[in-house]
Amino acid sequence: MELIDIIPMVRMLLSKAALVSCNGSLDATEQCDSSSDNCVCIDESDNKERLIAALKEHLSKGSAPVKTISIKGKGVISVEYPKGAPVINGVVENRIIIVTGGAQGFGGGVAEELFAKGAHVVVADLNEEVGNAMVNKLNSLGQINKAIFVHVNVGDSDSVKRMVEQTVLQLGGVDAIISNAGILRAGGLDEMDPDTFDLMTKVNYAGYFYCAKHASRVMKLQAEVAPQHFTDIIQINSKSGLKGSNRNFAYAGGKFGGIGLTQSFALELMPHNIKVNSICPGNFFDGPLWSDPENGLFVQYLKAGKVPGACSIEDVQAHYEKQVPAGRGCRVKDVAKAIVYVIDQEYETGQAIPVTGGQEMLR
Ligand SMILES: NC(=O)c1ccc[n+]([C@@H]2O[C@H](COP(=O)([O-])OP(=O)(O)OC[C@H]3O[C@@H](n4cnc5c(N)ncnc54)[C@H](O)[C@@H]3O)[C@@H](O)[C@H]2O)c1
Repeated sequence: MELIDIIPMVRMLLSKAALVSCNGSLDATEQCDSSSDNCVCIDESDNKERLIAALKEHLSKGSAPVKTISIKGKGVISVEYPKGAPVINGVVENRIIIVTGGAQGFGGGVAEELFAKGAHVVVADLNEEVGNAMVNKLNSLGQINKAIFVHVNVGDSDSVKRMVEQTVLQLGGVDAIISNAGILRAGGLDEMDPDTFDLMTKVNYAGYFYCAKHASRVMKLQAEVAPQHFTDIIQINSKSGLKGSNRNFAYAGGKFGGIGLTQSFALELMPHNIKVNSICPGNFFDGPLWSDPENGLFVQYLKAGKVPGACSIEDVQAHYEKQVPAGRGCRVKDVAKAIVYVIDQEYETGQAIPVTGGQEMLR
């Protein structure tokens, strides 16, 4: 077994009263001080069952909290216990949650909301500059939980694998992954070129598969030693995953496909206590996709005369808001509440949950 597989199991074995976090060093020459009560040295690392048995035996012996575990020939794991007052919403507290596309937009807002509720958040994004700025902002709030940035291209399976490995090395495991990174290039059949279609399919559809594939591997290891601990794979889908979208088929097709993946992954993974759900937000009018003053859809639609009689951006926005029974666009808080609901549940999997203010309803 590699250290990367051992760390999530160690974390769950040590997470008794509260979830701990761990940090791994892959330097095989490093050893911890075996004379210290806080240190455990394990020789047995190639056979999983023997390794777990050895760890359990060592951990049951000592009364002092284990701070370091050295695994012979593999490296050292440092353990950090949560300190300080618990955060009020205990649902996500101390959970390790990856948010892809977490630098900005819905993902950025969700990262902020989950961090505020006490989760360790991995901001995983293509955009290093904006992603690092988000992480610095979160870590400067003075909370005890941590935020880290990991560079990822969700359209590349190896990159997603490295993202999950970095998460395990720096924080100790994965309790939830929010597969949020997505792109939109609208166009009808006459305009859409095959390369753009392939790119959107890779990011929006295959990207979700890569996230589920690599994160579930870690979640399954955690479930082996802590069968009572539920974990989550959550895809940020769209109302366009529930109803076709005119001249936007590459986006809607990928999102419809995502719900097929969600239902199928849910069947496969529930035996490991991994829940898999999609959340389908309505239009995020406050986000850059719609509101960017230069390239946002409101400006584009105004210039293109798409909304008859509209003379200003406000007219265009009002036209779209009227189509929502709730009278407004979807906000980050609406999506974050749905995410916390899904994580809190132990009996909800394989669902596509609309968060659309009534604009799209399940049949
Ligand atoms: N904006 C909306 O109105 C709306 C509505 C419903 C659903 N959604 C969905 O919400 C999700 C987020 O959308 P948004 O509007 O917040 O987008 P956004 O463009 O504001 O942000 C997307 C983030 O994803 C990152 N990203 C893009 N491609 C990536 C890749 N290949 N690998 C890693 N990161 C990548 C970007 O750098 C950016 O930080 C998407 O899945 C989208 O389909 C959006």
